[in-house]
Amino acid sequence: MSIFQHIPGTFDILPIAHDGIAPSHAWRHVERVVRRVLEGFGFEELRTPTFEPTALVARGVGGSTDIVQKEMFAFTKGDTDYVLRPEMTAPAMRAYLEHRLDQRGGTQRLYYLGSCYRAERPQKGRYRQFHQFGVEIIGPGSPHADAEAIAAMMEVYRAFGLTDTRLRLNSLGSRENRAAYREALQAYFQPFANDLSELSRERLVSNPLRILDTKDEREIRLLDGAPALRDFLDDDSRAHYETLQTLLDAAGIAYDQDDRLVRGLDYYGYTTWELEGAGLGAQASLAGGGRYNGLAETLGARETVPAVGFAAGMERLFLALDAAGYAFPDAATPDAFLVVLDGGVEAAFRLGLDLRRAGLSVASTLKRGSFKALMKDAVRSSAPRYVLIGETEAASGIALVKDASTGDQTPVPFAELAAFLQGQASNVR
Ligand code: HAM
Repeated sequence: MSIFQHIPGTFDILPIAHDGIAPSHAWRHVERVVRRVLEGFGFEELRTPTFEPTALVARGVGGSTDIVQKEMFAFTKGDTDYVLRPEMTAPAMRAYLEHRLDQRGGTQRLYYLGSCYRAERPQKGRYRQFHQFGVEIIGPGSPHADAEAIAAMMEVYRAFGLTDTRLRLNSLGSRENRAAYREALQAYFQPFANDLSELSRERLVSNPLRILDTKDEREIRLLDGAPALRDFLDDDSRAHYETLQTLLDAAGIAYDQDDRLVRGLDYYGYTTWELEGAGLGAQASLAGGGRYNGLAETLGARETVPAVGFAAGMERLFLALDAAGYAFPDAATPDAFLVVLDGGVEAAFRLGLDLRRAGLSVASTLKRGSFKALMKDAVRSSAPRYVLIGETEAASGIALVKDASTGDQTPVPFAELAAFLQGQASNVR
């Protein structure tokens, strides 16, 4: 029988780098920076379950999206349908509505960091279990909130020195604007319906705006003559978009207006955006976001709840860091390594606990072996000091501390060991 393997499209995060996956300490570093930046904007953390009712995703994300049509990991238990969350915006809005977070008053500024699941074809930067971080600003309808979400997103990449990015920005206008545009697009494409790919023909009926996403050269040429969404925006939508642009300009946040940016989720209206990284190949999309004032009502709320946010892929961020040659901090090493020799097991075991309770991180040999073999383990730990405990040390209560870089050996009584290792020893013999 061969040993089990991970499921394609998923990966293990190990203490070492492997198969293009960064080691766990690098993940923790990145997560720490992300949290620091987002908390710096006053965002508070939200954690929701990894699975949700299928109907929440089907309705929230939208029936005509790839996610709902092809990519949900859905299962049934008893008489309930569940889905592994493919994204966090619908869950965030569910949590907001369910727990009446509006009653806390003010704007809810939420951030999250966690795993999402989509049954896509796995490839570099595209996984079936991946990790997103993002924010949702729930309450304000003003373009100031859109600008804040975009600024928070940009600051995360800036904190890593990743400034070689391209922000694409668009406005989808109000529901009415989109309805009028949809009709105009349908009318425009109808005569060419036979030239369209099967997918676009389908979209022409179900969701014509998604045709703007096409990668087909011929369809892209056809799009050149198509009506532009921009011409269908009403005064309010236009004013919202212009104010957002003024704010971004004022902060020096560069963007490209992109008429074709519609994004593949049904809940967007007004602003949408996507951030692309340089040198990422096919998976250039680092992050995406937009305004979704209609989502709360889709999920059963009686009133519109204005909201805007973004989500970013952690794996894509790692790709960008890699491409930029980002230097991750080294993994933390233990403060000391206990080399446990024959006759010293009990004393070392107790001492190890005492040292950890004193706040030191201490690793230890847990096996018997020759002095040479045990010392090899000690060296591998990269600890700056080795504490040698054998029969003699156990009997005398005095450990031998070896400095890893100089090789100097100092006898230190057990009681003074914590202080010594913390560099505070006063009367070491
Ligand atoms: P999204 O564009 O579907 O938006 O996903 C956001 C980001 O997640 C993408 O830009 C990409 O970096 C990453 N991502 C998506 N799918 C995969 C995958 N299969 N493997 C690796 N990374 C992936 C949303 O999810 C919206 N909820 C964003 C949002 C928040 N809009 C408003 N608030």
